[in-house]
Amino acid sequence: MTLTIHDDLLDVKVICDPYTYYENLRKSDPVHWNELWRGWILTDYDDVSTAFHDKRLSSNRMKPSKSMPKSKSEELKSTFEILSKWMVFNDPPQHTRLRMLVNKAFTPKAVEKLRPRIDEICNDLLNKLEGNEKIDLIKDYAYALPILVISEMLGLPEEDRDQIKNWSDDLLLMVFGAVDIKDRHTRAQNSLREMSTYLREVAEDRSKNPKDDLISAISMAGDGNDLLTVDEIISTCTLLVFGGHETTTNLIANGMLALLQNPAEFEKLKVDSSLIRTGVEEFLRYDGPSKSMIRIAKEDVLIGSKMIKEGERLLLVQAGANRDPSKFENPNLLDISRNPNPHLGFGKGMHYCLGAPLARLEGEIAILKLIERFPNIELTNEKLEWQPTIINRGLKALPLQL
Ligand code: HEM
Repeated sequence: MTLTIHDDLLDVKVICDPYTYYENLRKSDPVHWNELWRGWILTDYDDVSTAFHDKRLSSNRMKPSKSMPKSKSEELKSTFEILSKWMVFNDPPQHTRLRMLVNKAFTPKAVEKLRPRIDEICNDLLNKLEGNEKIDLIKDYAYALPILVISEMLGLPEEDRDQIKNWSDDLLLMVFGAVDIKDRHTRAQNSLREMSTYLREVAEDRSKNPKDDLISAISMAGDGNDLLTVDEIISTCTLLVFGGHETTTNLIANGMLALLQNPAEFEKLKVDSSLIRTGVEEFLRYDGPSKSMIRIAKEDVLIGSKMIKEGERLLLVQAGANRDPSKFENPNLLDISRNPNPHLGFGKGMHYCLGAPLARLEGEIAILKLIERFPNIELTNEKLEWQPTIINRGLKALPLQL
């Protein structure tokens, strides 16, 4: 069978501009069988939103694929063991249990307490940028913040943070499906193993000497005999480090890019900084860090006129749903005062992003502080390159003139 370019989700044109590609798909075939990816691509708002709630669609997908050679799946066994305990890859009842035990730490109220510390971290990072004419916003600012915040929440020592970031970077290659990087499985495997050994020591220490930090709270959470096992604590910590890392970095970078490419909206924000609240929601809709999420059909499911067979996989494309004109007026325009804005950037239903309040707060503070400090910040004429992955949406670098 000849494969058309139409199905190549990693084609450079699709990576650069997923919105036009998914818009065409939504118009022509909103529940589309993609032969190359071997799964169904959903791009219509109602279909994607309903699928996020559909209990017949499973999130339990972190296991070796049938096509993977046996030697490879043996080699990756320990990686799959850790990832398969991530709540995001579990269905109820296991998902419910894991989520309930960490939910409390991430309420908007609990997260709001971090505001002064996030302010301080941003100020420190911005101080280091003073005197530079040109920066890479990702490397020099947006990358550092989330890892510092989550490491601090967890209670991990400051001197270990670069190491934690390196481990997390390697893991991203596998989870986000960077298929062009050939040694991605081995790199993810090694880093996850090292990170787990490191976290095991910290978790064991905290269960004997609890401190006022998230690892201690997770270790103690639960009632009576329903505590998390040490393996579950470690898996959950790796998920929090990982979940709190690149996504938030990309919220800050994609958000700044959207503002710089839409100067009238940028001016509105400079004049009225309270618009940052609706602004962050709009960045999540307009060019959010999460392009799509995967599910597996647990049974035959009819979506639109298409029958999805048990065992087949689906890509719920948030980047398609968030630009659906039946839900959003002028969906291809950035409007930082858009309200209501029922975007699906954090997903929906039981797996709705646990870290959403934290990501929102970090995004709001990081962007406002940056433009307060450097109000004349602008794009350079360097070409921008996007990461070649199906799941996330992030630039390789964002060079800016201060
Ligand atoms: C702008 C930044 C972020 C975006 C766009 C984002 C996006 C998402 C999305 C789309 C999901 C749903 C996954 C699914 O349905 O399969 C999710 C789940 C999750 N996110 Fe985030 N996320 C962000 C930041 C964070 C942060 C800062 C943390 C934690 C520190 C975090 C932790 C999690 C966790 C633990 C889950 C799994 C929830 C569950 O399965 O119940 N995320 N995120």
